[in-house]
Amino acid sequence: MTEKERTLAIIKPDAVKRQLAGTILSRIERAGFRIIGLKLVRLSKERAENFYAVHRSKPFFASLTEFMSSGPIIVMALQGKRVIDDYRSFIGSTDPAQAGYGTIRRDYGTSIERNVVHGSDSPENGLREVRFFFEEHECLGDE
Ligand code: RTP
Ligand code: MG
Repeated sequence: MTEKERTLAIIKPDAVKRQLAGTILSRIERAGFRIIGLKLVRLSKERAENFYAVHRSKPFFASLTEFMSSGPIIVMALQGKRVIDDYRSFIGSTDPAQAGYGTIRRDYGTSIERNVVHGSDSPENGLREVRFFFEEHECLGDE
């Protein structure tokens, strides 16, 4: 019945600060993604550490969580068939210099860390990450 996936999309603090949120949102909509939840939040360092817990042992963990808690972010729940892979193709590789032409990270990213957007990497993580930020009643239904 529901083969629909959910992905958590984030417009990161670098992009919000540079006033790119509207442009990125507009590109997400124009690309045909369905936004079922959206809010502007600010993560504490502790909450950023929880969100990125899988990266705790990585050398970039401290810097990443510092960055992700440095200013407001826009979090979105996107829903659709294949939305995990489709959205990751749309944003491009982690390192903007390696990302394909026409992707969000290629167009606006300034470093491997300051890469303007996040996207969940599997259907399971998509559901988990959407739940990290949204109650079910904050998301649109299936209409
Ligand atoms: P994301 O989770 O944000 O969608 O990015 P991703 O899957 O493409 O990359 P991931 O490996 O999950 O890394 C999460 C975020 O950590 C920062 N990063 N910095 N300095 C570095 O080598 C490095 N590597 C990753 C990036 O902000 C990346 O998006
Ligand atoms: Mg990731």
